[in-house]
Amino acid sequence: MAENIRWFDTIDSTNTRLVALHSELPDRTVYAARFQTAGRGQQGNRWESRAGENLMFSILLKPDFLPASDQFILSQIVALGLLDYLQSRGLTATIKWPNDIYAGDRKICGTLIETGLADKRVSWAVAGIGLNVNQQVFDPSLPNPTSMTLETGRNFQIEDELPVLVQCILDRYDKLDSPYARNGFDALYLEHLYRRGEWHFFEELQPNEIPAEHRSGLRIEARILGIDPEARLLLEHRDGTLRSYGFKEIKYVR
Ligand code: BTN
Repeated sequence: MAENIRWFDTIDSTNTRLVALHSELPDRTVYAARFQTAGRGQQGNRWESRAGENLMFSILLKPDFLPASDQFILSQIVALGLLDYLQSRGLTATIKWPNDIYAGDRKICGTLIETGLADKRVSWAVAGIGLNVNQQVFDPSLPNPTSMTLETGRNFQIEDELPVLVQCILDRYDKLDSPYARNGFDALYLEHLYRRGEWHFFEELQPNEIPAEHRSGLRIEARILGIDPEARLLLEHRDGTLRSYGFKEIKYVR
């Protein structure tokens, strides 16, 4: 059961707080916030979310059996748990590599997973999740947001939804120590990968310190074949070239 949930009306960031307290708190501790004053997103971006309308929470995990080289599997179980939960609420979603969950061509959820390594193993991980639940109006600067309400026409009680969602993620987490289940995660992740196998435009980026949204790159047409063993996105170009890309080396073009 997902019983270890602590709610905060206001906090700086549930991720920041759990990262700071990881050594004092047990595996599976969940911190959730109605409002974050310093919510953090991918690539040093801020994560803004209207007070009380959405789910913002982090789960502390201690998968010390997991080799550091396999840590991408944590992204996989979080993404698959999110898909299980959304499916239970009537929503079909896909995983936009590496960390987003999409409904159609719109972002409904972002995740930020931070890890601590010791002896080549993952000694702790904080999986932060920002899921748009009831919000209907978004900052126009956001490229393509959506929410559970916009997708389903329903309103949700966020306090009731959180234990259900956490349980979906922990159900996946519980299967992590079985190699058989782990192989299954790879296949499922691929099956639900956003835009897999379809020809689309992407931008190749030079990895550097400039945030991806401020960089311009070379436009290519390619299709996603999958994820390589280093958790990089494997693309096939129109001329048949295969190339894999790290997070900061490729941008999806809408
Ligand atoms: C992204 O898409 O950029 C990732 C967003 C992750 C946001 C969540 S909200 C709860 C947790 N606390 C944070 O400060 N960030 C994550």
